[in-house]
Amino acid sequence: MPFTGNRQFKKDPRIISSASGAYYFDQRGRKIFDGLSGLWTCGLGHNIPEINDAVAQQLKTLDYSPAFQFGHEKSFQLAEQITEFMPEGLNRVFFTNSGSDAVETSLKMARAYWRAKGQPNKTILIGRQKGYHGVNYGGLSVGGIPNNKIPFGDGLTSDHLTHTITDASLFSKGQPKQGAGLADELLELIKQHDAAAIAAVIVEPVAGSAGVIPPPVGYLDRLKQICSDNNILLIFDEVICAFGRLGTKTGAEAFGVTPDIMTIAKQVTNGAIPLGAAVVRQEIYDTFMDTDAPDYMLEFAHGYTYSAHPVACAAGLATLNVIEQQQLIPRVAQTSLHFESSVHQLKHASNVTDIRNYGLAAGITLAPYENEPARRPYEVAMKMWDKGFYVRYGGDTVQLGLPFIVDQQEIDLLMTALDECINASSK
Ligand SMILES: Cc1ncc(COP(=O)(O)O)c(C=O)c1O
Repeated sequence: MPFTGNRQFKKDPRIISSASGAYYFDQRGRKIFDGLSGLWTCGLGHNIPEINDAVAQQLKTLDYSPAFQFGHEKSFQLAEQITEFMPEGLNRVFFTNSGSDAVETSLKMARAYWRAKGQPNKTILIGRQKGYHGVNYGGLSVGGIPNNKIPFGDGLTSDHLTHTITDASLFSKGQPKQGAGLADELLELIKQHDAAAIAAVIVEPVAGSAGVIPPPVGYLDRLKQICSDNNILLIFDEVICAFGRLGTKTGAEAFGVTPDIMTIAKQVTNGAIPLGAAVVRQEIYDTFMDTDAPDYMLEFAHGYTYSAHPVACAAGLATLNVIEQQQLIPRVAQTSLHFESSVHQLKHASNVTDIRNYGLAAGITLAPYENEPARRPYEVAMKMWDKGFYVRYGGDTVQLGLPFIVDQQEIDLLMTALDECINASSK
């Protein structure tokens, strides 16, 4: 099983049988609040009739069509609709199967872009400590979670900025006020490697998997400025952030910084069918198209059998319609105010060493047992499961990514249960 303690799971299986709205039902018929929206995927809740109907209808109409050399209407419609959610300027969409594929696609695009512009030596990729960019070798190389990398050996040539959690940022509500200067580390990396050798910098606007780390005020602006000054592409990995999680359409919108490339996945289909994409600026697209080769030749030799799968596109179109029609993004912005004040009350629970939040996402860091940093979050998550709440544990953090449809009472019940479970884990 992926990212699972397989031996523990076999001893104590947690089997989910069905879902509706903000709840799962397990094999024993217990009702469980979905405190991570699946895996940051199902913000709309589960079993959404509009999505289910669109998927069923699509299966009856066109179950699959070849992704290479042929197209189908819904792929172009979804690309158009995705760009409506993007900041101005990001208007070209390349479909993938997942977040990891979207990241690989963006990194390959960055390198191929510079090659097409006559600068083939621009290949180094810069990520950030604690960054998570999926599990393929490109994503691992720029990722910054050691346990995900060490077993797998060498990746691509890369380097890393430090992460943005500092003593001054602990227990910040939303963006930390201090820390913008950490972006200047990029200047040091440019001195070391030379801008002529660096293709791109990739960051998550809010780092998700390492435990929800919002960027310090001004940090992303500074990163963008340094990238622009040095001819380096900036990639935002918005696999978690995009389509409402932060109370905005994207992280780019939340923080007022537009990257050159954005990766998306997860919420775009509400998790119903896998789909990801890399979304790029027109000029990047034009660079590939501006070639003297005959027009039947490939401009970008890359793609997946299931790129723009018709059923996934149908799910994506239905999801984005529901987000707009039900005004879910303003709803997230509104609900996040109560969420922020409630989650920060956990500061008083035992062993809580930091809490971070943005939109309907939060990370709670717990003090480690000696030599076992990951044990306490695991114990808390298991106690929560027993109480009827699903939350994620990862590294030294417990993570929350609430459904966009959550109400205040559900937030309060979740926090009461978390408070009890965190306090119980100190014994
Ligand atoms: C920021 C980010 N990038 C990439 C990925 C990988 O996505 P997937 O698991 O769909 O391959 C994730 C998954 O959590 C993610 O959070």
